[in-house]
Amino acid sequence: MTSFLIFDMSTFRALKKPLRRIPPLIAVDRKAAKPLYQQIYEAYRNRIVRGELRGGELVPSTRELARELRISRLPVVNAYSQLLAEGHFETRVGSGTFIATTIPTHSRSPLPHRGRPGAGPRSVSACARVLPKFERPSWVEHLGAFQVGQPDLRNFPVEVWSRLLSRYSRQLKVRALQYGDPMGLDELRESVATYLRTSRGVRCEPEQIMIVSGSQQALDVSTRVLLDPGARVWVENPGYWLAQHVLAAAGCRMIAVPVDSEGLDVARGIKLSPDARAAFVAPSHQYPLGITMSATRRSQLLQWTSQAAAWIIEDDYDSEYRYVSMPIASLQGLDTRDRVIYTGTFSKVLFPSLRVGYIVIPPDLVERFAAVRQSMDICPSHASQAVLAQFIREGHFARHIRKTRKVYEERRQVLVEEIKRAFGLRYRIMGASAGTHLALLLGDRYCDRDIVMKAAPKRLWLSALSLSYVASPTRQGLVLGFGNTPTSQIPAGVVLLKAFLGA
Ligand SMILES: Cc1ncc(COP(=O)(O)O)c(C=O)c1O
Repeated sequence: MTSFLIFDMSTFRALKKPLRRIPPLIAVDRKAAKPLYQQIYEAYRNRIVRGELRGGELVPSTRELARELRISRLPVVNAYSQLLAEGHFETRVGSGTFIATTIPTHSRSPLPHRGRPGAGPRSVSACARVLPKFERPSWVEHLGAFQVGQPDLRNFPVEVWSRLLSRYSRQLKVRALQYGDPMGLDELRESVATYLRTSRGVRCEPEQIMIVSGSQQALDVSTRVLLDPGARVWVENPGYWLAQHVLAAAGCRMIAVPVDSEGLDVARGIKLSPDARAAFVAPSHQYPLGITMSATRRSQLLQWTSQAAAWIIEDDYDSEYRYVSMPIASLQGLDTRDRVIYTGTFSKVLFPSLRVGYIVIPPDLVERFAAVRQSMDICPSHASQAVLAQFIREGHFARHIRKTRKVYEERRQVLVEEIKRAFGLRYRIMGASAGTHLALLLGDRYCDRDIVMKAAPKRLWLSALSLSYVASPTRQGLVLGFGNTPTSQIPAGVVLLKAFLGA
């Protein structure tokens, strides 16, 4: 059977169970009539029964707990003996005392409903209500063929990163432990500004760069600074679902503007809502259709923003990768009126768990952005910024982009060839000239969500195009990521896909 598993699942499961040695919250009352050993015994037993302490967790040594509780060791030893005898605790030679692994873990059971019996769901904010039901994304548990939004993780220079990380830890300065600037670390902002000016045609100075935790926070901060609840905002339809969630949570009214082969249809946008406050666009590589916005549409969009005094929030998430031409310069670089807020991320060019992205802010808005960001999470984490700045300064970043560009080019080519071999001209491929995904248009007789559900147990992680539509979808299709799908797995993946499509 073809397996797309990247690493051994038993290792993964073992890693997921962390050891814990933080002394549990146990209070003893020295004046109580109940003996101390019994108080400790009951406190542990009750917490185990309630599922607050779970199988496999390390408990403090008797000496540590006695010190913590400021009592003699004897009652602690007696309580531990009782818990061991009853099977609540177990010992492992050389490792210490643990909560017994035979005790069932409660970690997967649903959270207990603590409301009054018979009462309905408790009230939450409009922002929380408006978002669709949360489902743990497939990428948390699995990595596999065709997963969208994943870069090539196996080719990431882990040794280099580890070396820089250890050097950072060894030379850690007390200053680095302090809260930082809400705009981010100066050396990283300088590197990002240089990179964006030279590689993306962005007009910027380091003072305009804000380091954030990925594009998602960039979109969120920009929305909070620029848009009030009820504001009308053009969004690409279909478009990036998590950008839609940001706008929905902010109480904005999304105006779904269709995307055609030239990108966002500006004339339709003007017809639908001429006085919208902003447009959210990914002009270099639209998600999910992968279209590059034409020069005409770019100038129409800029013209509209200056007439309507609207903002453009440009999401430039993976434009380093283009296979049929040089990278397309940013929309921000064409804007002479400072109406574009440019956002980008290291999630696609390095790795998503890094959680580092950036915003290029028009100079007169920098102070407002800083104030809003400070109210959210104060500042970005120092360690990831410092290591990343060094990674860029030493040339590893540029090298990694050059290397992955070749890798993705090959994967893209193989995927397109395999799709053509399997399906001929039956399904249209869109957006294969850039980035790390393409869209396969299926036609109305298919339900893309059904296909996605059927494929998942076979470790084929497809994404349904219809889910990227703001309201009712006008197309059914699949978004196929090839960034983290090794070339050797692509032919077998397409064969499986063919079976699911019944083609
Ligand atoms: C359109 C689009 N924008 C941005 C991102 C990146 O988001 P982040 O930087 O928060 O990881 C993605 C990731 O899949 C994306 O598809």
